[in-house]
Amino acid sequence: MSIRIAPSILAADFTALGSGIAAVERGGADLIHVDVMDGHFVPNLTVGPPVVRSLRRVTRVPIDVHLMIEDPDRFIPSFAESGAALISVHVEAVPHLNRTIALIKELGLKAGVALNPSTPVGTLEEVAADVDYVVMMTVNPGFGGQTYIRRGASKVHAMRELLDRAGNPAPIQVDGGIDSETIADVVVAGADWIVAGSAVFHSKDPEAAVRTLRAAAEAAATRRPHAIPGGRNA
Ligand code: DX5
Ligand code: ZN
Repeated sequence: MSIRIAPSILAADFTALGSGIAAVERGGADLIHVDVMDGHFVPNLTVGPPVVRSLRRVTRVPIDVHLMIEDPDRFIPSFAESGAALISVHVEAVPHLNRTIALIKELGLKAGVALNPSTPVGTLEEVAADVDYVVMMTVNPGFGGQTYIRRGASKVHAMRELLDRAGNPAPIQVDGGIDSETIADVVVAGADWIVAGSAVFHSKDPEAAVRTLRAAAEAAATRRPHAIPGGRNA
């Protein structure tokens, strides 16, 4: 499974999003991660479909929308229409997860399911075969710049086992408090896609920060317990 780096624009300078995105794309960013918050599911407000629509015009890589909102089904079609390529919803916010995953896929997008740090891995048991990716939160969602919760790595490992048992090679995305130090733990445990806000956009050189994160992640991937050169775990 190849490593993908997804800078989160939550930590970027919103007056200069275009140049921020250009910088991380030069550094090799694979996805642009957009954090959508509603002031209900999480105690913060951010952006909606119009911002995704503007970002789409200046972004070459796929836009990955992380919905930290109640009743996401109401908004999924407008995010899709605005140019999102991937949408993740929180298992804690969705009563009919099969229906929501199907809705995202019917719109032609990749469907992700996100879990808060206190949510057990087993909550995905019944949909493990259906998800396109899983987002393991390594902070409580709502704000950038929080401290990585160390238990995240063992949850990533358990989630990898759950997906493997379901025969689903879907990648695991980790989100929250990831920097060039904390990245190794989660990648060794099985994380493939790395979200990073502060570590990228609060650095003096966001372009170089993306390269540094990728190098750290790729080095850690070779230390996975069953890493076979060129194989699925490498
Ligand atoms: C947290 C968001 C994250 C956040 C990550 O609620 O979902 O995507 O932007 O930011 P850092 O990398 O600063 O923890
Ligand atoms: Zn996020």
